[in-house]
Amino acid sequence: MDFFTLLANGGSAGDSPSIFDSASPAAESISNLSILVLAVSGLIFLVVEGILFYSVFRFRRRRGEDTAEPPQVYGSKSIEIAWTAAPALIVFFLVLAITRTLWEVEVDPPKPQAGDQTLFVTVVGRQWWWEYRYEYYDGRKLDFITANELHLPASAEGAARRVYLRLESADVCHSFWVPRLAGKTDLIPGHTNEMWLETRETGLHVGQCAEYCGTQHAGMLLRLVVEEPADFERWLEREARPAADAPQVRAARDVFLAQSCVNCHRVRGTPAQGTYAPDLTHLMSRKTLASGILENNRENLDRWVRDPQSIKSGCLMPDFKLSDAEREQIVLYLLTLE
Ligand code: CUA
Repeated sequence: MDFFTLLANGGSAGDSPSIFDSASPAAESISNLSILVLAVSGLIFLVVEGILFYSVFRFRRRRGEDTAEPPQVYGSKSIEIAWTAAPALIVFFLVLAITRTLWEVEVDPPKPQAGDQTLFVTVVGRQWWWEYRYEYYDGRKLDFITANELHLPASAEGAARRVYLRLESADVCHSFWVPRLAGKTDLIPGHTNEMWLETRETGLHVGQCAEYCGTQHAGMLLRLVVEEPADFERWLEREARPAADAPQVRAARDVFLAQSCVNCHRVRGTPAQGTYAPDLTHLMSRKTLASGILENNRENLDRWVRDPQSIKSGCLMPDFKLSDAEREQIVLYLLTLE
């Protein structure tokens, strides 16, 4: 692990993402700018401290020297010009570098059109999870909503597959930050922000809500899954389908539909049409629960349905005091939502 990665990870050597390990053009611009600013300020630090230590050493009082005050010099035009001009030049140089970076990361979303291989998604920040509304891909209108795990197609040599995100908030300010892919962009109530991503690196890219948004701010993790275009197409196709309706779990489904789950959660193809909590239509296609804090498996689903507050205290889902039989049926049903 290099020094900058360590620095960006707050000194801990883990697999946390670093802005200095960029995997997209925008993140690379930001990383280059950060290195430049660090280098310039490091150089200034060395020069200033160098002069300071040199003076302290060179002009120290030596043994037997007389203790009278040295001659005092007031005003020096040449020094004053130098120490005004030098910082002004440095600031001007940094302004140019920053302007170029702003230009490079700027968003100007095009109109969706067939053949553009561009993905458009609206991201809604919520306490404390992410809602993704898939809008367009390759000019096709998409019409499904998912949560917490954002899937994107990977770019390839000569085939950029850009992803444009519209960022909104349903409650308070949040911030979308996946350090290896792009800079932070805030999600602000009543205001829409935009950003773009593009990467050739398939696999999982993690991030974190980067604006304090309440008790579970730290439990608002971001997971971006970058896939080869063919795999991404298959994922799109599956997500767009209504929920699986296996006859053998009808009884379990009816238990789910009879509970207040349906007031907040949506399961497409059933009467559950809540819009307040994560869409569960393809719950089991997600690797994690509760915005990335738990692995999505039978045991954790059961724990979550039993008492969400013991796992993510403060989250908006209460403990519904279900009987063991009801909970078992609900978990059984959820496990079929692939
Ligand atoms: Cu959402 Cu911090």
